[in-house]
Amino acid sequence: MGTVLATPETAPNTPPSDEKTIVFDRVSIAFEERAVLDSISFELRRGETKMLLGILGSGKTTILKLALGLIKPDSGDIYVLGEHVNEMSEDQLFELRRKMGMVFQESALFDSLTVRENVAFRLIEEGRPAEEIERRVREALQFVELENTIDQFPGELSGGMKRRVGIARAIIDRPEVLLYDSPTAGLDPVTSTTIIELLVKQRDVYHTSALMTTHRLPDTLMMATHYFNEKENKMLQLPKNNSVDARTTFLLLKDAKVIFDGTVEELAASRDEYIREYFA
Ligand SMILES: Nc1ncnc2c1ncn2[C@@H]1O[C@H](COP(=O)(O)OP(=O)(O)O)[C@@H](O)[C@H]1O
Ligand SMILES: [Mg+2]
Repeated sequence: MGTVLATPETAPNTPPSDEKTIVFDRVSIAFEERAVLDSISFELRRGETKMLLGILGSGKTTILKLALGLIKPDSGDIYVLGEHVNEMSEDQLFELRRKMGMVFQESALFDSLTVRENVAFRLIEEGRPAEEIERRVREALQFVELENTIDQFPGELSGGMKRRVGIARAIIDRPEVLLYDSPTAGLDPVTSTTIIELLVKQRDVYHTSALMTTHRLPDTLMMATHYFNEKENKMLQLPKNNSVDARTTFLLLKDAKVIFDGTVEELAASRDEYIREYFA
């Protein structure tokens, strides 16, 4: 398929393009009169992976739901792949969501369906030809290294494997934008690393744009300090002289506001007390 080799000389530290895939412009939303997001703005560029951080209940998942058009903001504008999400009909949103992939916190697989059927779900709904579906399912399962589970049921898989099937399902139609909601929550560190490796691979091989919520800082640092080496087919640490990935950025929410949005270098240079403590 002719993918670009991700070598330290090329891929890592290549800044994302200027093209914006997601734009939040002064977006506000309140639940039961409590402001959860208060006029927040940020942009996600093509090829960028932005980590959404903040304490439990700070509005991270809400941002993902807003981007998908599952909920509407009280005010402000949201654009995804050039479309004005808050003014779209359900039909238009359905079309837009076909270009997006979502990985939920709980892998949210259907227990009564096989791995094949779970991963294929979207393509089956769209009535794609059977051969295409089978090819795509195998390709997606190969990406997450679970081709051998194709005929199994979710109940037969470990937590980490389920999460990987969830990723295969999200990437089945080669989305331009991926939304990950705490993809490593509840997993042990070793299993978490296998998930992060997949996200790094997705970022570096397919150059997908992604928003990822997490409350696990080691995960975010691993994303920022590693790249996927296609020749060795594994995630490696970036070389010392080039040690942070320029496409991985951080956004920190506090009291319904964005209090930080930038790169690891900018983060390290911050003098803000809360930010320093959060990342300490
Ligand atoms: N549909 C909803 N109805 C009422 N309150 C909600 C709803 N969705 C989220 N909230 C509230 O909004 C706040 C932010 O939630 P969420 O975005 O899930 O936080 P996070 O993902 O950062 O933990 C929480 O206080 C949550 O209880
Ligand atoms: Mg959440």
